[in-house]
Parts: sequence; C-alpha cells; structure tokens
Amino acid sequence: MRNHTLSEKAFASAVLIVLGIGFFLAFVYLYASEIEPHHQKGQNLLKGVATTYYGDRSTNRLESVLHGKMAENVSRDELVKIHKWIEGGATKADFAQVEPIVTQNCASCHDAAGDPPQITNFEQFHALVQFDTGVEIHTLARMSHVHLLGIPLLFFMLGSFFVRTRWREGFKAVLVVMPFFGVLFDIAHWWIAKRYESAALGIIFGGATMGLGFAGQWWLTAADLWLPDRLLTRLVWILPKTVTTGEDAA
Ligand code: HEC
Repeated sequence: MRNHTLSEKAFASAVLIVLGIGFFLAFVYLYASEIEPHHQKGQNLLKGVATTYYGDRSTNRLESVLHGKMAENVSRDELVKIHKWIEGGATKADFAQVEPIVTQNCASCHDAAGDPPQITNFEQFHALVQFDTGVEIHTLARMSHVHLLGIPLLFFMLGSFFVRTRWREGFKAVLVVMPFFGVLFDIAHWWIAKRYESAALGIIFGGATMGLGFAGQWWLTAADLWLPDRLLTRLVWILPKTVTTGEDAA
C-alpha cells in the first residue's frame, strides 16, 4: 500500500487500528466466557467446546441420585429397569415399566407432604431425567445468522486493504480466503456438534483458521503500510521478486 495516496493510507490505518482493538477484545471475551470457565471445571478446550454445543449427556439428575443419595431405595433389578426406560427415551408410553417403582419406592417419601422434590407421577419423575444437551437450537440459529452476516463484513474491510499490499500474490490469495472459509467451517460444525460431540474439533479448527487468517492479514497490511522497507526486505520471501523496496532502489 506504500504507493497509495495519503488519504488512502489514513483510511487504511484508521480501519486497522479499530479492527485490531476489536479483534483483541473479542479474543479476551472468548477467553473469559468460553475457555476460562471450562478450565476451572477441569475441562480442556475440546471438552469445553463440546459441552457448550453437544452438552454433557453422560449423566442426568435421576441416575446420579439413584447411584448416590437414593441408592438404598432401589434394588439392582429396579435400577436396571429404570436405566432401560431412560435408554428407551424415558417416554410416557413406557412409563408402565417403572411406575410401580415410583409409587412404591419413591412416592412414599416424595409425596406432597414428604421430602421435596415431589415424585408421584410421570411428569415429576420424567423431569429428573433431563440431560444437558448444550445450546438450544433457536439460540444456535440466531447466533449463526448474526455471525454469518456480521463477521464477514469485517473480513471484507480488512481483505480489501490486504489485497493491495505488496506481498506475493499466491500467498495473499490463500490468506484472504482463510477467514471466510474459517467462519463457514466453524458455524457448520456448531450444527454438526449438536449431534456428534467430536465435531467440537471442527469448531476449534474453524475458529483458529478464522483467527490466524485475520491476524495474519492485519499484521501484513500494517507492516506494508507502516514499516520501513528496510525491515520489509527481511520478510522478502513472501514479497514478489519484482518489488523494488526502498533499500533496493538506494
Ligand atoms: C425413605 C425416604 C425416601 C425414599 C423412599 C426416597 N427418597 Fe429421595 N429423598 C429423601 C430425602 C430425605 C431427601 C432429601 C435429602 C437430601 O437431599 O440429601 C431426598 C432427596 C431426593 C432427591 C433430591 C436430591 C438431589 O440432590 O437432587 C431426589 C431427586 C430424590 N430424592 C429421588 C428419589 C427417587 C427417584 C426415589 C425412588 C427411587 C426416592 N428419592 C426415594 C428421602 C427418600
């Protein structure tokens, strides 16, 4: 961008500064809201992302109390029956299979006059079998379109300056496409991760591609704009051979 007019350079500089601060704050926010809380629960990044989208379906409240506090109120056989009912989807149609257990083993203490929670019928028993299935579909739909319509605008702004820099064409072509590819890949995997936990890996990959593409373009545009050519020649392997930097000319 070295050969551009003063107003073009001022424009590009202003955009770079604002986008740079925004990008940095987005990173801080992501760390504070998505990474640190999971880290505190002892989850690594992959597990944390999976828990956000897929949820934690390894256990539910009913099974954890039946193996814990309430264990003495059910026999092995009854536990197996309840487990089968849950595996079958914990439906009302199949409730007959476990109803005697509920009325005989639970309702005796958990009726209206007894210890909370009240457990006397299908609705109350079923309410204990809720899994954590991650972010809700309508939230995901909202996040998807907001991200898809908003974020690429920023990539567009940055990219329109980056393509005018003096770095090698093939290199620029790859870097300028990276964030767009990343955001699509990222969002696609949000949806896949609702169904398949392992797609969390794709979310991380998409996010990293987006971040690296953005950071790379930002830095190389800033360098082309602000750094003296003397320094740029040290990065000459990604500069086109035809470029005459200030040093070459001198
Ligand atoms: C002998 C009485 C008794 C029976 C029978 C009984 N419970 Fe409980 N239950 C309690 C008491 C007392 C508490 C509260 C104590 C506590 O939370 O530490 C409790 C608490 C609970 C809780 C809330 C605890 C939590 O951490 O979520 C659940 C859920 C529960 N029982 C389920 C059941 C189920 C299901 C059955 C039938 C298999 C059952 N209970 C049978 C006495 C009973």
